[in-house]
Amino acid sequence: MDRWIAATHGAELRRAVDPVAVDLGYGAAPWTAVELLARLRVAAPHTRVVGVEIEPARVAAARPYERDGLVFRHGGFEIPVEGRPCLVRAANVLRQYDEDEVVGVWERLCARLAPAGQGSRGGLLVEGTCDEIGRRHVWVALGPEGPRTVTFATRLGSLERPTDLAERLPKALIHRNVPGEPVHAFLRDFDRAWAAAAPYASYGARQRWIRAVRDLAADWPVTDGPVRWRQGEVTVAWEALAPRV
Ligand SMILES: C[S@@+](CC[C@H](N)C(=O)[O-])C[C@H]1O[C@@H](n2cnc3c(N)ncnc32)[C@H](O)[C@@H]1O
Repeated sequence: MDRWIAATHGAELRRAVDPVAVDLGYGAAPWTAVELLARLRVAAPHTRVVGVEIEPARVAAARPYERDGLVFRHGGFEIPVEGRPCLVRAANVLRQYDEDEVVGVWERLCARLAPAGQGSRGGLLVEGTCDEIGRRHVWVALGPEGPRTVTFATRLGSLERPTDLAERLPKALIHRNVPGEPVHAFLRDFDRAWAAAAPYASYGARQRWIRAVRDLAADWPVTDGPVRWRQGEVTVAWEALAPRV
């Protein structure tokens, strides 16, 4: 997720006068915030990261790890930072909430993002879910205007089939992986494309993934290209996967 953010949002962070990135709900240990800082500073050296946690004990535990460009604050969806952040990343936070709370939380968080204007699309909210070691990950990216894309990312060596990612769908989609819903049709088609690409497995899982995604892109609005596919990623326009109301 960090790698994808640096690649797709690095230019916005570089352009910002004071690029602030929020790691919302960083958890029991501060490592995701520490890693986010390191990743983003490669792309945009002036980036500052603020780790925000609703559990006061977790803020106290993280404070010894504050450093140049990294602080920890107690708070929640109000985002207790001055100004409008360039990035809010919420990994494995909304999965603890009910599905019908998601849109309201998204709206709150999107309203806190840096606005679009003068060659900028504005800040980015990246909200998703992963497995314990981050090898299977699905997230929604939203701008100030609302949801933009859904990204599926996996460590290819350990993938049996694309539907392995289904159990890591973000809260907005995980209950919609049922017949009749777009995300279910997408994952079904992805598995079919993966099966059809089996001959490419002899060149490695990466080649198989690239071939499968290329086929998938004939029917689904894939918004990225081979540079990202090589990383075991694929990004699709949100409207194509959004739940039917
Ligand atoms: C499962 S942990 C995720 C930790 C880390 N982001 C990761 O992906 O490894 C979820 C964290 O979100 C925090 N959390 C839940 N609701 C929150 C809110 N409204 N604002 C800030 N943090 C919240 C919890 O206290 C918990 O530490």
